[in-house]
Formats: sequence, structure tokens, C-alpha cells
Amino acid sequence: MEIVELKKGIYWVGAVDWNIRDFHGYSTPFGTTYNAYLILDEKNVLVDTVKAPFYLEMMGRISEIIDPSKIDVIVSNHVEMDHSGSLPQIVERIGNPIVMTSERGMKGLEKHYRKPMNFKTVKTGDTLSIGRRTLTFVEAPMLHWPDSMFTYIKEDRVLLPNDAFGQHYASSQRFEDEVGNEVMKHAAKYYANILWPLAPLILKKVDEVVKMGIPIDVIGPSHGLIWRKDPGRIIQAYVEWSQGKSKGKVIVVYDTMWGSTESMAKAILQGLIEEGAEARLLHLRSNHRSDIIDEMLEARGILFGSPTLNNGMFPTMGDFLTYLKGLRPSGKVFGLFESYGWGGGAIKEMKKTLEGEKFEVWDKELRVQYLPDSEELKKAIQFGKEFARKALDK
Ligand code: FEO
Repeated sequence: MEIVELKKGIYWVGAVDWNIRDFHGYSTPFGTTYNAYLILDEKNVLVDTVKAPFYLEMMGRISEIIDPSKIDVIVSNHVEMDHSGSLPQIVERIGNPIVMTSERGMKGLEKHYRKPMNFKTVKTGDTLSIGRRTLTFVEAPMLHWPDSMFTYIKEDRVLLPNDAFGQHYASSQRFEDEVGNEVMKHAAKYYANILWPLAPLILKKVDEVVKMGIPIDVIGPSHGLIWRKDPGRIIQAYVEWSQGKSKGKVIVVYDTMWGSTESMAKAILQGLIEEGAEARLLHLRSNHRSDIIDEMLEARGILFGSPTLNNGMFPTMGDFLTYLKGLRPSGKVFGLFESYGWGGGAIKEMKKTLEGEKFEVWDKELRVQYLPDSEELKKAIQFGKEFARKALDK
């Protein structure tokens, strides 16, 4: 196996999951990686493990570098099983190493594995001298779970922040500079679908890390590529995404039964484009929900269109809005349109969901009975133009 060294004596010993296509509801067309890191010093330290089915892959990489039984300490930055899944096996294999984790991490690991381990809990600012190096721990609750923490290696200026700054991207490369700008596309989708609801916490944590004055040469997240050329680039992107900075972009998300809502959506799109918006049309059954969320990250306005079914919205719209609610995007304006046969009800149901989350919903809406005629399509174009002006603050 190829040996990957981040800095002298610090190795990537994770696993590549080429085949995963659904990560708890998030589409992963490029797979993912589970990153674990091995630090060789007077005390040898393994930071995080990998998802359980990849235990042997991780052990193979470790064995290329040292005898695994020589690991003294395992740091568990995060309980979720994509990172702790191999912990019980490796603890058993190497015999009772110290397992360093946050207080909540210890409780979570005990509840997951019901296995006695030699835990030592740490909190923000605690350090561990391992010889030439010192590890510093920074609690990062909710990035991604309450137990999450970062590990920082002072002498090498390496930050291991677990889920923060990651991407779901499997490749033969390990570093972002080997891939180029494409990495930002994967990082944005990951942020939008996993960390978006935690935006205020991210800003606070970034500020805290900056105030600690810790220089960073390398960021080794727990998924995807390692940032070594310009780690400031991903930190800056997180700040901007967390601040809700958006572009002059509007997206139209819709489903259709007999083509009526689709005709409306296309006419609205025409109006948006004529008004100068960067606009995209996204059919709910042709685009995965996690890709639509990715499109939403840098959009200022979002239009939802649904046919009426049984006095309510179409089921695919219900699925999408349920997913969206949990992500709590801020700084967006939403507009609604529907087609109906008799009583209607799609707008009413979509509005109730969005307003229940305190999202900003435009007070104008567009409704068409059965199929839109040419006058109604002209109104739809006009509706798109007005929404573009509203969303883009013209
Ligand atoms: Fe990659 Fe929250 O686990």
C-alpha cells in the first residue's frame, strides 16, 4: 500500500469507500473516505479510526508503518460510527491503549459499544505531550455532534478537525492540491448538507481558533482530501457560507403531474433570466435532494412549484421540505406557485411548512387551474421577473 505522509512522522492511515452512494440520505456519487491519522513519536498516537467494514484496510496501512501493537494512545474526535466503528476491534487487537475523547465522547462510545476502554477525557485547552510533539484538544460541540472535538499538533501546525472542512469524495489522490478547484464543489455540497444548520457555531469556532493564534499548515479532515497547499481557502469559504453570502442566483424547484406546473416553472425561469438572474430549473425527481440543497447554498431566491394532490402538495415536495427544515438555511427568500384542478392546497401546505420555520416567504403567489393558457404563461413570466427583483434587491 502507498504510504501517505502529511508531515514527517504523521501519516494518513484511513480507508477509501469507492462504492457508497447514499450517506444517510445524502447522495455520494463520488464515494467518500474515512480518514484516520497515525503520529509516530515517543508515544505513538492514532487519531480516529474508520467505519467498521474498513477495519482491515486501516490496519493494513498502519502495519506498513509500524506494528499496530505499538500504538499507545487513540484519540477519538467523534463518536459517529464512520469514525469510531473500528475502535472496539483495534482496542482489542493492540490491548488496552488510552482512548482520549471528550466527556460526551466517552459517554457516546460507552453507549455505542458497551465495552470497557481505558478512557481519559479532555476539554478545550488540554494538552498531551507525546515526546517531540504536543497535542492540543479543542471541543467543537455540534461540529458535527455534541461530542465532536478537534486535535491540533502544535509543532507541525496540523489541525485534525474531524467532520469539519471535509468532502465526500473518493479518489486516488489524498491532497487538495492534487485535484484542483473541483475540491471546492465537493466541500460546498458537504457543508450545505451536513453543517449548514450549524453555521453560527462554525463562525464562533473559527473565531475561537483564530483567537487562539494557532498557525495552520495542514488541515486533515475525516472525509475526503487533506488541505495542505492553502488551508486558509477552506476556512474562508466556511466563513462566507456561514454568513449566508449569496450570489445573484435564483433556483426553481418543482414537480409536475401532467406538465402544467412544469410549463409554469419554465415560464417563470424565462422571467428570472430576462431580469438578469443566474437561474436554474430543478425537477424534484431528476435531482437528488442533497444536490438541490447544494444549489441552494449560494442562491438568494428559491421558488417552489407543486401540483395539488389530495388538497396538498406533491409527495416529493413534502420529502424535500422535510429535509430542508432540518438544515435551517438563512438569508434566503422563498416564492410559491401551484397548479390545481378544483380546490387547490399545494401552496397552503408549502407555506405552512416554510412559515413554521420562520423562513421569509414572498407574499405574492401564482396559481393556475388545469393547464396554463398563453395569458397565464405571460403572467408566469412576469411573476419570475418580479421575484428576481425581490430576491436580488433591485
Ligand atoms: Fe463523519 Fe459525523 O461523522
